[in-house]
Amino acid sequence: MTQASRVSLERALLEIDRACQDGAVVRDPDVLEAYAGDESEAPRRRPDALVRASNAREVEAVLAAATKHGVPVTPRGAGTGRVGGAVPSMGGIVLSTESMRSIVDVSDEELVAVVQPGVVTGALHEAVEAEGLFYPPDPNSLGTCTIGGNLACNAGGPRAFKYGVTGDFVLSLEVVTAEGTRLHVGKPTVKGVTGYDLAKLVVGSEGTLGVITQARMRLVPRPEALRTLLVFVPDDETIGRGITGLLRRGIVPRCVELVDSIALELIRTSAGLAIPEGARAMLLVELDGPELLLEREVERTGNAFYDEGALEILTADRGAERERLWGARRELSRTLRKTARFKLSEDVVVPRTRVFDLLRVCRELSARHGVVMPTYGHAGDGNLHVNFLWNDEAQRPDVDRAIRGLFEATIALGGTLSGEHGIGVLKAPYLHLEQSPELIALQKRIKGLFDPAGILNPGKIFDPGHRAHGPC
Ligand code: LAC
Ligand code: ZN
Repeated sequence: MTQASRVSLERALLEIDRACQDGAVVRDPDVLEAYAGDESEAPRRRPDALVRASNAREVEAVLAAATKHGVPVTPRGAGTGRVGGAVPSMGGIVLSTESMRSIVDVSDEELVAVVQPGVVTGALHEAVEAEGLFYPPDPNSLGTCTIGGNLACNAGGPRAFKYGVTGDFVLSLEVVTAEGTRLHVGKPTVKGVTGYDLAKLVVGSEGTLGVITQARMRLVPRPEALRTLLVFVPDDETIGRGITGLLRRGIVPRCVELVDSIALELIRTSAGLAIPEGARAMLLVELDGPELLLEREVERTGNAFYDEGALEILTADRGAERERLWGARRELSRTLRKTARFKLSEDVVVPRTRVFDLLRVCRELSARHGVVMPTYGHAGDGNLHVNFLWNDEAQRPDVDRAIRGLFEATIALGGTLSGEHGIGVLKAPYLHLEQSPELIALQKRIKGLFDPAGILNPGKIFDPGHRAHGPC
């Protein structure tokens, strides 16, 4: 850090300290160390200071001072991100919304919840379900991740197949832009088309446009009953054909999750699975709806997959059985991390009819580059978590070649680089594979309007090292 930037930081922190509650500004290196990384392989960097804001007014003060003095600010939810979005890669201040954790209102008449950004997603689930309501988005880190982070990344989850992702549930947001201006974007009502849809723009902007201080989220009635099926398939083709068969029958499960054979082996014990001989992959299919209709839906779902060649279909209807299964599925990412010294995980999306092609590409890349690549994820959405596991540092160039091969194949199949984790720092160098220089330039201009001094989460989404028209 230069002398000038150290002086700017101290001046900004002095102003922030005056505006915020006692103890909001933290300089203790041990605490700062806990805010240096997220749940990805992105290089950690300890921030120079942490500010735990308690309300929107404090967020305004932090951002206004940071813009005035040119100090980088990295907004942070619970730090469960997978692409380094919450890593303060350029130092400066981490602005955490973890202390803003009130569920302000839940209305069963309006079907709405008003929440602060630090509310843990699983806590929102519990609160609304107690009122007979349902908030569908369910990132697998739901026990620890927060709504603010979910909004910043437009998080998905298994239930997105039927219900959609976090952004599909946003009615309006209170957001503070980089200069400390508080705006209300979106609409207070379930319908509304006045002006540009800036709420949609802020959602998924990965903390680069503003800091969300309150959100008004749409809810739906809580589904009456649930059924869970485990579908074992002998080959990858059966996956896509089975899903198409379901949709043609008018059946929309809430989840269609894929676990490939390598990942299946890893969770066999913890999930208590008896895997039939010859199974290439397992689909975890979950249906919800009125109790009276579900028995018949389960039968029709089973038929759809058997018609396409499924090997065996089991049901897991007892609560404990389901929990064990979902527990193992939710932990898959962390379980894989324990199996190798190094792990990178992608979350590419292809049209759901091309999942088979994507799996074929993964097998080819794995064989060509000698990298273990277990794959699992949200097959119904065509959104797969392709993992890269390796133990020897010298293998890294092969891994990078395999990742690039995966991204190029994804785009060629009509897909996109990220379905739910965002671009952050890890995928920033690849953004140009998907988006044109004109589109990237337009987004940077929009960023400049929200953040003229460039202090908000610098280095994310748009690779600072990449020249739009230069060589790759
Ligand atoms: C999952 C997270 C990694 O689906 O998105 O497990
Ligand atoms: Zn996922």
